[in-house]
This record gives sequence, structure tokens and C-alpha cells, in this order.
Amino acid sequence: MSANALYTDLSDYYDLMCADIDYQAQSNSIHRLHQIFGNSGNIHLDLACGTGPHVRHFIDNGYQSSGLDINQPMLDKAKIRCPEAQFSLQNMSEFKVTKHVDLITCFLYSIHYCDGINKLKECLASVHNALNVGGIFCFNTVDKNKIDSDSFVEHTATSENSFFTFRSGWHYSGSGSKQLLKLSIEKTTADKTLVWHDEHPMVAFSYTELKEALKPYFEIQIFEHDYDKITLWAERSGNAIFVCVKI
Ligand SMILES: C[S@@+](CC[C@H](N)C(=O)[O-])C[C@H]1O[C@@H](n2cnc3c(N)ncnc32)[C@H](O)[C@@H]1O
Repeated sequence: MSANALYTDLSDYYDLMCADIDYQAQSNSIHRLHQIFGNSGNIHLDLACGTGPHVRHFIDNGYQSSGLDINQPMLDKAKIRCPEAQFSLQNMSEFKVTKHVDLITCFLYSIHYCDGINKLKECLASVHNALNVGGIFCFNTVDKNKIDSDSFVEHTATSENSFFTFRSGWHYSGSGSKQLLKLSIEKTTADKTLVWHDEHPMVAFSYTELKEALKPYFEIQIFEHDYDKITLWAERSGNAIFVCVKI
């Protein structure tokens, strides 16, 4: 299934699936990192913005935020959540902006939706082109060599008389530049259960490969994947926040 078809299917369930995510903490943390490492501008763009929860928090933090995504149903929901923001239907590997921005974000590992290493590199070039001098690019990402293919996250929710179980996890075969995002949704209404399952290929890279791809464009700072406190990456975890300052 393409990423676009996946999120057309998911768009009605997306916010329920992400109900446990602390979007405010994520947005506040990146706001702090922008204050430390960025210029003093407030123009923000969120790549793969989905239904716009981060855009909402950045606007509330004083940014002029906009979002782009490849899926129109997700953008329609984002526009309802953030009527004052501009949203555009674009592929993050080859996007354009009408005005340069000071901060570009890409949350929830969405950078891995670039379709292969070359598209990832095109995305980094597009980000570099879109940023003002001193602007920063922040995203979270996983190192393919640290993926535990047996681990997954699960959460449950109740909505409109239905009980939902959402599961997601990464799978990496141990070689190559593709990893799988495994997703499943179970919906139980009365005593009838529907199961939806998807295995979606995404680009895989090591942090060494990622740093090489970033190096021509950015000064790189890496932090532990903790949105409550800013801690430099101890070079062990395969789950980190990258803060990249345009050079
Ligand atoms: C896991 S969701 C993340 C949404 C949002 N960033 C969040 O944190 O809730 C991934 C999003 O990436 C979008 N997407 C996938 N491939 C994309 C691409 N090549 N360019 C732009 N958006 C893409 C999907 O449509 C979906 O909205």
C-alpha cells in the first residue's frame, strides 16, 4: 500500500490512534531547541504535518506556522484544527516554499517516508533551500542498526461505542535501506471485531549514513529522544532528535 493510500485509510482514525502522544511537550521541546540553536525568526513549516497537531501548538507558541503533507484527507483535518494556517499538498522530497522559513520540523519519524536514500537526500536539499540563514531543521529518527523488530507499542481507546486497539512497530531485516512500519488496528463494536493490518516500507539508514547526508548542508546536534529534558545524545540509543542548523 502506498503511504498516500495508507493515510487515506487511516485519516478518520488518526487522532484516536495518536491520542497518547504528548504533542504539546514535543512542540515545546522543539521550541526550546529553536530558541537555543536557531535564529530569532518565527516562521515555521511542519513537514508531513498530518492532521496538524504540532502546527496548532506552534501557532499557540507565537509562530507563523504552515504545514505540508502528501495526503489531502489529513490536510483537510489539519485545516479544521488550524484555520489560520496555510497547508499545501506536497511531497516532502521535492517541496517548495513561497517564503523562506526559520524552523522546519518533521515529527513522528515521518522523515522515513522519503522513498529511498536518494529521495531522503532530495528532501534535505529542499529543506536547506527553504530555510533562512541560521534556520534549523528538527526531526526524530531511528537508526536501522538499533531497531528491535520484536518490540511494538500498543494502546487502546474507546470511541462511539467501539473499542480500538492500535499496535505499531518497526521491522528491519538487517541489510539494505528499507525498514517496515507494521501497523494494526482492531475495532470491536458489540461482539464484532474488524482487523486492519498494514506493513509499510520506509527508508532505513544508520546514523552514520544520515550524518554523511546532512553534512553538506547543516551543522548537526543530536539529542536523546526525550521531550521533557534536553540531553545530548550519548551515542548509544538508536532513537534520537536531530537538530540541524543551516550552513
Ligand atoms: C505518522 S504520520 C505523522 C503526522 C504528524 N507529523 C504527527 O506527528 O502526527 C505521517 C504523515 O506523513 C505523510 N506523508 C507520507 N509520505 C509523505 C511524503 N512523501 N511527503 C509528505 N508527507 C508524507 C502522511 O500522509 C502522514 O500524514
